[in-house]
Amino acid sequence: MIGAIVASGVFLTVEGIEGSGKSTQMLLLSERLRQMGLPLIVSKEPGGTSLGIQIRKILLDRDPKLETCSPESELLLFYADRAQHLKEVIRPALSENKIVLVDRFEDSSRAYQGTLGVSKILLDQLSETIIGSTKPHLTILLDIESKFSLQRVESRNLSLGGEFSERRYDQEALDFHQEVRRRFLDIAHQEPHRIHIVKAHRSPDEVFEAVWDRVSKTLKAHGHLVS
Ligand code: TYD
Repeated sequence: MIGAIVASGVFLTVEGIEGSGKSTQMLLLSERLRQMGLPLIVSKEPGGTSLGIQIRKILLDRDPKLETCSPESELLLFYADRAQHLKEVIRPALSENKIVLVDRFEDSSRAYQGTLGVSKILLDQLSETIIGSTKPHLTILLDIESKFSLQRVESRNLSLGGEFSERRYDQEALDFHQEVRRRFLDIAHQEPHRIHIVKAHRSPDEVFEAVWDRVSKTLKAHGHLVS
């Protein structure tokens, strides 16, 4: 609270293709907000609730060589996760005027499942029904060329002894990632007031400086930081 102004709930999301440095920026941002003593909830999709953890397993631990999942089934699973996440975590925290920081949200469905062929009509209908007015106040889109992001993913896989190499999306071809990136950028250009693009092919500290610059403005506007 600042003077007579009561800080209101702030919904922040971070998006980007694999290898964009999203996990690092999520960590740096949540550490900074915690250090400042701000009321914070950090979460992710899929997997921000106990039901979501089970859904996450279905989605990400499948072996695509053994079973196929239609893009629509996949989307509905992501939305089952999201509906529960909104009900259990996001809406309650916002109504308590907290800052809610979420790793991936609706834009990921539009970018990934859109690339897989799900229609915009279905994406719009689910968004309207499940998310409604609970839209992020600010989305940071970490943007990086797919060839660089895939190099990062590859070296991460190698350093993890190949553990993650079974993961489905990391194995998708470069053109898949290029299309996902294009879709993220399209959404950002359609919603410039909500989505802030941060160039991610830089050092983590440089990227974080740009992320913090924008996030702090949003927090000030909602009364969580003094101007
Ligand atoms: P995750 O392990 O959380 O990795 P990342 O660090 O890349 O976020 O994997 C989440 C995967 O799920 C990622 O490949 C993007 C994908 N995804 C969708 O396809 N649609 C969605 O709506 C969401 C939330 C994620």
